[in-house]
Formats: sequence, C-alpha cells, structure tokens
Amino acid sequence: MKVAVVGATGLVGTKMLQVLAERNFPVTELIPVASEKSIGKEITFKGKQFKVVSVEDAIKMKPDVAIFSAGGSTSLEQAPLFAAAGTTVIDNSSAWRMDPTKKLVVPEVNADVLTADDKIIANPNCSTIQMVVALKPLHDKYKIKRVVVSTYQSVTGTGVKAVDQLFNERKGIDGPKVYPYTIDLNVIPQIDVFTDNGYTKEEMKMILETKKIMGDDSIKVTATTVRIPVMGGHSESVNIEFLHDFDLSEVRELLANSPGIVVVDDPANLKYPMPLDAHDKDDVFVGRLRRDESQDNTLNCWIVSDNLRKGAATNAVQIAEYLAAKHLIGQPVEATV
Ligand SMILES: NC(=O)c1ccc[n+]([C@@H]2O[C@H](COP(=O)([O-])OP(=O)(O)OC[C@H]3O[C@@H](n4cnc5c(N)ncnc54)[C@H](OP(=O)(O)O)[C@@H]3O)[C@@H](O)[C@H]2O)c1
Repeated sequence: MKVAVVGATGLVGTKMLQVLAERNFPVTELIPVASEKSIGKEITFKGKQFKVVSVEDAIKMKPDVAIFSAGGSTSLEQAPLFAAAGTTVIDNSSAWRMDPTKKLVVPEVNADVLTADDKIIANPNCSTIQMVVALKPLHDKYKIKRVVVSTYQSVTGTGVKAVDQLFNERKGIDGPKVYPYTIDLNVIPQIDVFTDNGYTKEEMKMILETKKIMGDDSIKVTATTVRIPVMGGHSESVNIEFLHDFDLSEVRELLANSPGIVVVDDPANLKYPMPLDAHDKDDVFVGRLRRDESQDNTLNCWIVSDNLRKGAATNAVQIAEYLAAKHLIGQPVEATV
C-alpha cells in the first residue's frame, strides 16, 4: 500500500513511522510529508532513506492511505484534497472529530462503524482513547451512568516544542515556551484554551468524544485535565458510576480479558500502572481498582498509556489495519483488533 505520513517529522509522525514498521504494515511506498521548511529532509523507514515531500506532491502520488499528524488547520485544508484524490485519510488532529459526517474510531470500541465510504476518519484525543478502551467492556457489562476523570498528562502530548521547553527549563536554558508557565517541577491545570463554560477544550474533548465513540449520549462525563512534567505517557484517575452493581474480581477479570488492556493491580506488592512503565508500549494499563465507598455501584481506577502510541500512532495504524483487513482500502492484511 502507498502510505503518506503527513507530519512525518513531528513527535507523533516519528512514532507513526516506528509503529508502521514494527507492525509490519504492508507499505509498498512511503510518502513522508511535512511543512515547507522540511521538504527534501531525509527520514529513515525500515533502514531506508526517504525524502520529505510537499503536501501537493504527495496528493499527486495518490496514496491509498494518508495518516495526518500535522495540526488541525493542515488537516482542515489538506485532508479533503487527499480524500478527493481517492485517498483514505486517518487524522490525528481535532479538526474532524465532532463532525457528524465523520467517524471517530478506537478499534477496540467501535471499528465496526467504518465503511469504504469513510474517506476522512478521525483518531480521537489521546486522553479519551486510553479511557474508552477501559470503559467499553465495563459499559457493556454494568452500564455506565457517570464518569469523573482527572488527568495527569505528559508534555509529549503537546509536541516537540513542549519537550524542548521541559528540558531547557531543567538545564536552566531560557528558551521559547509553549506553556503559559514553567512546566518543570510544576503542575498546570490547563490543557488547551478555556471555553465559555470554564472548561478547557481538552476537557470538552474528553466529554464529547467519549459519548460519540461509545455511541451513547446518556453517559455523563466530567473532566479536569492537567499537564505534568513527565514524558512516558498520560495517567488518569477515573471514577465510574454504574447502573448495575459489580463484583471487583469480575471487573478485574473482565478488563484483563479485554483487547488492548493490561491489568496491573497488586497493591500488596506495590504494583500499579505508571507512565515510565507504559512508555513505548501499545497497551492501556489499568490498576488501583477499588470500590468508591462513598457511593453505590461506583468504581475507582487508574489508567495509564503512552499518548504517542495508543493515544495517537498505534490507534491510527490499527484503524488502517482494520480498513485493510476488511478490504476497505488496498490489499487485505490481518487486523490485530
Ligand atoms: N502529541 C500527542 O500525544 C498527540 C496525540 C494525539 C494527537 N496529536 C495531534 O497530532 C498532531 C501533531 O502533534 P505532534 O505532537 O506530533 O506535533 P509536532 O511534534 O509539533 O509535529 C508537527 C508536525 O506537523 C508538520 N506540519 C506542520 N505544519 C504543516 C503543514 N502546513 N503541512 C504539512 N506538515 C505540517 C510538522 O512539520 P515540520 O517539522 O516541517 O514543522 C511536523 O512534522 C497535532 O494535531 C496534535 O494535536 C498529538
């Protein structure tokens, strides 16, 4: 398959190339794309060098699939041009996620909504992806009424410049800032801009995207999203109220047997998920499972995943694998979900 990676020089794009190679996605021709400043730059894929091309040149090459990680405005402008040329776009930005004509997909949850007519497919927000992977089997069994989530998000979620800010601050270098405050040795309770209701856009993404992916508007969600100075992945404290009561050992077993989830929950031996352990892994790690003793039918848990992998690159490649396996693009490959 001819595969374009738009944003190939960025944090997510670089991870995308790594994941495509690792999972042996059947790439017959790789087309790396980035902004004007990177055209001609060489990137390595499976030991071979490829030159970065412009968006215009990439469209002319008519790729089967284009995986976008180049920001919302690039997606809004360029994804329809690829789609018009017959390319299926899988987009990592927030540009198309809440468009009612576009599918928002986490393969473990709702891959079955995809058809050959979907030419622009949205990859959800990283914090939402890891949460819904864990929510889905629980919702199917106990029916979720309400979710209260607080996040502890890695600087890698903001891209290359944020990682530079953290390391510059750590070395005492006065460099450019992408956050409004120092991030090193700090916690910033703001991700993305504020909206009129006092929530940030990131919080509203978690609220709205969860309902859309789960296909159930009755699920109430409230979120507080927070940036912390870590690198390995995002962590979430999640409180889930169910309609029906649950058995804690059954919850543990249900999660452990669900695709994409690893349960790490052994308090006696100090075992619980942490971003350092999740780093560069594709799974969603769930632990600290316990009853909320202040309310009936309510569970507390802790969910950690590498935001650049399952939160972005891995999820996008899994969508491409699903499309290929179902003959919705290119030639069939075996889907892993
Ligand atoms: N980081 C995460 O955890 C995460 C998770 C999910 C989704 N996302 C989304 O993925 C996207 C990229 O995030 P990132 O963290 O990888 O950012 P990043 O490290 O800043 O990389 C941005 C990439 O986009 C390219 N780009 C910028 N403007 C372009 C244009 N006009 N045409 C073509 N390419 C252009 C850049 O190319 P140059 O190098 O030439 O500037 C670079 O390759 C964003 O939309 C972000 O919201 C990120």
